[in-house]
Amino acid sequence: MKLFIDTANLEEIKKACSYGVLDGVTTNPTLLSREGSDPIEQLKKIVEVVDGPVSAEVTSLKKEEMVKEAGGLAKIASNIVIKVPCTTEGLAATKELSLTGVKTNLTLCFSASQALLVAKAGATFVSPFVGRLDDISAEGMDLVSDIKVIYDNFKINTEIIVASIRHPIHFLEAARIGADIATVPFAVIEKLMKHPLTDIGIERFMADWDKLKKQLNKE
Ligand code: G3P
Repeated sequence: MKLFIDTANLEEIKKACSYGVLDGVTTNPTLLSREGSDPIEQLKKIVEVVDGPVSAEVTSLKKEEMVKEAGGLAKIASNIVIKVPCTTEGLAATKELSLTGVKTNLTLCFSASQALLVAKAGATFVSPFVGRLDDISAEGMDLVSDIKVIYDNFKINTEIIVASIRHPIHFLEAARIGADIATVPFAVIEKLMKHPLTDIGIERFMADWDKLKKQLNKE
């Protein structure tokens, strides 16, 4: 399973990159607004750091405007992927963009029907939002399982990005289901490698090593 980071923060992206396991980045208008700088300039900085797909979202709601905006975003770099919302206008825009070879990530996906239709329109990626479904007492991961079954049934190439991940169990479940990608906030990426027994183990090894060195120095 590929690992993307879900952020527009350059420091977080650089740190996650330094771990050597980062495959891409997803941003959205909220994440870019948190950085407080010009979004296009911020995206230009991000694509310089990351060797992989970087999702940038359109903010227009009508097909023609989405396509026009996508054209501008796609000019930033060849690894920019256009995030488009799962609406009928977004569907039509995706079809047109896919015909011209522009990569798309269909965002705000909350049903398997949306996922099937966006795949038919030629979406490169689809992003089911698991955390936001959990928030309304639905099973976010059930949606990912449904999409996986449907995509396998019809040998669909659209890649599933599990998004709105809130904790390490979401990440693990995404891998168990066989999702292509998990896009994970920086704080959760940090938690993925954390285990109290690893920390305790290191502490004990270091203590025993120090003890041995002291003994040897005495002899
Ligand atoms: O990738 C989608 C993600 O940014 C949404 O996450 O936590 O706002 O539901 P969240």
